[in-house]
Amino acid sequence: MTKQRYRLGVIGLGEGRSIMSAALASERYELTAVCDLNVELCQQRAEEFGFYGWTTKYSDLLENPHIDVIAIYTPDQLHLTHIRQALEAGKHVICTKPLLPSLEGAQELLDIMKGTDKRLFVGQSSRFFEPMLHQRSDYDQERHGALQMVEAQYITDGRWFLEKDWSRQKGFSWMYGFMIHAVDLVRWYLPGVTEVVGFGRSIDENATGNGTVDAWDSLRFLLRDEQGRIAQISGNYTMPTLGQEIEPSISCVLRGTKGISRAEYPNLSYHTHFAEQGKASYSYDDRHDYYFRFEGKSHHAGEYQNYIEYFADCLDSGELPLPDSSEAIHTLALMAAMERSASGGGKLVRIQDIKDEFGLA
Ligand SMILES: NC(=O)c1ccc[n+]([C@@H]2O[C@H](COP(=O)([O-])OP(=O)(O)OC[C@H]3O[C@@H](n4cnc5c(N)ncnc54)[C@H](O)[C@@H]3O)[C@@H](O)[C@H]2O)c1
Repeated sequence: MTKQRYRLGVIGLGEGRSIMSAALASERYELTAVCDLNVELCQQRAEEFGFYGWTTKYSDLLENPHIDVIAIYTPDQLHLTHIRQALEAGKHVICTKPLLPSLEGAQELLDIMKGTDKRLFVGQSSRFFEPMLHQRSDYDQERHGALQMVEAQYITDGRWFLEKDWSRQKGFSWMYGFMIHAVDLVRWYLPGVTEVVGFGRSIDENATGNGTVDAWDSLRFLLRDEQGRIAQISGNYTMPTLGQEIEPSISCVLRGTKGISRAEYPNLSYHTHFAEQGKASYSYDDRHDYYFRFEGKSHHAGEYQNYIEYFADCLDSGELPLPDSSEAIHTLALMAAMERSASGGGKLVRIQDIKDEFGLA
């Protein structure tokens, strides 16, 4: 099959910096135009990448007939509006996580998707990090035997995030902004989670040194699927950590009857113990410069390049790119159930009850 080259427009140039890098490095895309309300940021990105096709008006992207795909990296609260406009303009959409900051608007989005032949893909970047890709491949080859348990965590000192204005606005939560990476990894392996129990706790404003938001930052959950398989999800966001080398911020552990594996982020490390081959540890440090292209390890250009190329392959073949809107909304329903359980002091909440409440098909 011939591989088509897609023309990409990007809105939101904070983390959108990574998608600019991904598109410019990929043979599957031509970066056509980028947009941000902040002129200085547009100029900064233009200089950084030597790419001067910027605008402050989203309508310039929407009306540009040379753009096939719009990639959305604006604050979570704006995703629905920007997705709707892109689809109405006849563009395919890549939207960063979280698809929405809550289930409000979820059914509206599902209805919009029913009326379009365009694709919407949700950029759950952690699925596309090197160790996680190897873990998935081992799982697909059934090397774990029958999966019994999934343990995922996202633990990081995210106090820097409170400098962003929109972290103080309605709709921001550590769960939807951060913990969703761990929740999505669990859902990837246990799509049929039916119930959840958990606890959350907020920290006193003075303790963070950088203010706080009205959101839990210490979270622990247990989930169970229809086969009785269990998952555990952990998150902490406004306290010191041991540092990424000792305590990788994201990890995903799969425990099965024939083996166990553990994939880590941002360490490029993957550990396995499969019955057929004993214990093994893999390091993908040779891929460091592909994944981490800017300062530190806080950007995601490598994962984004992996997922925009996956999206291009799906557009070529007609395959549904995953996670799509319905899968992402199921994850949001799961998170709504988690929130409900924590706010109810740890009561058991069924996902179906949440879906019924929001009238979700
Ligand atoms: N791992 C990941 O996939 C990952 C990592 C970081 C951030 N994100 C997601 O990326 C999104 C943006 O996060 P961020 O950290 O870059 O935030 P940010 O605040 O740094 O950047 C958002 C940008 O959007 C611009 N913007 C806002 N409204 C606009 C509009 N109407 N038109 C054009 N530009 C507009 C702002 O000027 C700003 O530059 C969030 O949804 C976040 O969850 C994903």
